[in-house]
Amino acid sequence: MLGIIELGIQYRLWRSQASKGKKSPRSGPATPLAKMASKLNEESISLESVMAEFKLSNTTLRRMMSHMSDNMDRGLESGLERSTIAMLPSFVPELPNGKERGKFVAMDLGGTNLRVMLMELEPGEPMRTKQFNTRMPNAAMHGTGEKLFDYIAKALCDFLIERELADECLPVGFTFSYPCDQTGLRSATLLRWTKGVTATGCVGEDVVQLLEDAIKRDGRVKVNIVALINDTVGTMVAAAYEAGGHCDIGVIIGKSFLLHENIKLQFSGTGTNASYMESSKKIVHGLANATEDYNHKSMIIDTEWGGFGDNGEADYIFTRYDKIVDSKSDHPGVNSLDKLIAGMCMGELVRLVLERLCENKVLFNGQGSKMLRTRNTFPTKYISEILHDDCGVYSNTRQIMDELGIEGATFSDMLLLREVCVVVSRRSANLAAAAIACVLNRVRRPNMLVAIDGSTYKYHPFFNHWVCEKIRELLDPGLDFKIVQTGDGSGRGAALIAAIVSRVKREEEKRLKDLEIQRQKAAEAEERRLLEIEKEKEEAEERARKISEMMRYQIERGAEESYQRHE
Ligand code: GLC
Repeated sequence: MLGIIELGIQYRLWRSQASKGKKSPRSGPATPLAKMASKLNEESISLESVMAEFKLSNTTLRRMMSHMSDNMDRGLESGLERSTIAMLPSFVPELPNGKERGKFVAMDLGGTNLRVMLMELEPGEPMRTKQFNTRMPNAAMHGTGEKLFDYIAKALCDFLIERELADECLPVGFTFSYPCDQTGLRSATLLRWTKGVTATGCVGEDVVQLLEDAIKRDGRVKVNIVALINDTVGTMVAAAYEAGGHCDIGVIIGKSFLLHENIKLQFSGTGTNASYMESSKKIVHGLANATEDYNHKSMIIDTEWGGFGDNGEADYIFTRYDKIVDSKSDHPGVNSLDKLIAGMCMGELVRLVLERLCENKVLFNGQGSKMLRTRNTFPTKYISEILHDDCGVYSNTRQIMDELGIEGATFSDMLLLREVCVVVSRRSANLAAAAIACVLNRVRRPNMLVAIDGSTYKYHPFFNHWVCEKIRELLDPGLDFKIVQTGDGSGRGAALIAAIVSRVKREEEKRLKDLEIQRQKAAEAEERRLLEIEKEKEEAEERARKISEMMRYQIERGAEESYQRHE
């Protein structure tokens, strides 16, 4: 505590010295002379003026929430034609109910990594999992689609062969965390690549077909791809499994998973997105092109909120630094909210700010280093490491400055560096909170459960606290929520969805079988009833015949007697 106070005092002291004689360009020059001076000194900036660009008031965040919600309505109605939030159907009708059983495989491709997982489920027992993670090689991510899917198929085949499961035709759930136009549980067309992947010949193609073709080309295993899902759908389902069948929203904030403690990730957290359960009646566009009948009351919707801002509707949030990052990205103008929230761009944003502060002699005495002026040299993990430093210690910060080749940094420089990391990453947390609050305000159920996965959320020391605090401020009165952090949700979720699909199929088969038994029983009863009626009819006819015979006999006898009397 003392450390924080001491840090605060030193920081305020430093700030008053640093800004002495400098006026923020945002406060505006008062006189013509000042205007001229300001023009000449256009590039003269202060830490405050730069940081002000990243600070978003609740009014701005509410404005964004209202734009997002409008886009979500339009997305449900007309898809990407009239919205930047696609609201894609997942064709997953239910959450797990604990009755799932059997062996299932999950494959999880997202960002830079691929995971293959085997999951064994037995009601009432803890799930058993085995998994294999690998980094996607650049040649696969940036070559032909065939190469990419061959790589994925090979990883799957190797994994199953090693476990002697090659011929079991196991059900596979495939988590594919890129925007897809899904027309059935196992048919989905890739709309566009995100997260830096550029493999050719995939956009516009059916992803399940691409995978099945590659498995066939490999030819070593038999599997049954039963579902293609988004990572947020997996996260929601995995959290619901743990929470006894209930979860209201699955969120990813910066997806990536550690391959091994010693292997550094190239990107940290490549995207952001959320899924929630929607009433089927509202999914107009998503169900219009469905290739299979959908007779369930609700469906999980993959919002693809990462596309928000792609039509310039979030320009009031973009800073000059965001614009630079976007213009230099693999997909400029695409998935704008991903770039504002997920960790993929956060490090580079901080670097750009530091570079500008340095150019303006606000930082490192204007010296910096060649590396600091080079693109992508400030990985996002630096932000977490700097913020993990205990107050007044700065061991991580010093090491990072060494790695960046910065010499002679002062105590003030270190404080300032920390402040930039706080402000840039806090903006990301606030935007994520606004997006989550927007969905919760739509879902409006009591005690809502929010499941969050993703490295940006997990590895940043304050992110979860900031997100939670901001959601509370932005949520409609009377609503309440709880956040749970799910690990490996997208992988476990894919296997669980394969399990749900098997269970729903089993239940459907049982329902049809029961129906058939009932139908047969009813038919037998009807047959018995008809036989009885027939028998009653025959008996009645027999009775009538006997009566008429008796009557005829009596008439004949009467006639005979009267004849004899007349004789
Ligand atoms: C990107 C993808 C989305 C995914 C998210 C998190 O936004 O478009 O499908 O869910 O990243 O991985």
